[in-house]
Amino acid sequence: MNATVAIRRATAADRAFVRDLGRRVGSTSVSTLRPSPPHFVNEAYERLVDYVLTRDHAIFIALDADVRIGFLMLVFDLPDEVTLADQAFIAYMAVEPDRWRRGVGTALLRAAEDAVRARGITHVSLMVTEENAAARALYERAFFATERRLMTKVLTEP
Ligand SMILES: CC(C)(COP(=O)(O)OP(=O)(O)OC[C@H]1O[C@@H](n2cnc3c(N)ncnc32)[C@H](O)[C@@H]1OP(=O)(O)O)[C@@H](O)C(=O)NCCC(=O)NCCS
Repeated sequence: MNATVAIRRATAADRAFVRDLGRRVGSTSVSTLRPSPPHFVNEAYERLVDYVLTRDHAIFIALDADVRIGFLMLVFDLPDEVTLADQAFIAYMAVEPDRWRRGVGTALLRAAEDAVRARGITHVSLMVTEENAAARALYERAFFATERRLMTKVLTEP
């Protein structure tokens, strides 16, 4: 665990960092079942950030001293699509690659969970690509349970 990690809420001055780090690590979050050229991934990420900014949201920034080393984007008002029950949703999170495995992701998740609890919301969800072993391990270690699975079949020419 990195004892110096601190978490604060983002300001507009952090947005360039959120967009830049997300673009740099975006390929780790993409399934190999679909063609995903880098510019598609980048555009999808830009759309995601824009979407989050239009919602009731919070962005958390992880810091080592004054250096930004990670972020988490949380949306408070994305009801469960099956039950329509209130839930918060982690839209995306990322840590600087040279800081992985030092507890930064765990600290960001904890801050997000505290903010969701403070709103009186009892569930927080997220979506993770099956091949993203690091993220799946992080979430499982933080006691996220698999609630549903998105299943896809690639229909190739006979
Ligand atoms: C996923 C990510 C945010 C994890 O951040 P992190 O700061 O390294 O996470 P932590 O150090 O808090 O890891 C906590 C635990 O998760 C698990 N874990 C994290 N990364 C792992 C990896 N690469 N392999 C296996 N387990 C891993 C471990 O159990 C780890 O605890 P340990 O190091 O004591 O064994 C980071 O790898 C990342 O930014 N990836 C690219 C972006 C991304 O995939 N975002 C998620 C989109 S859904």
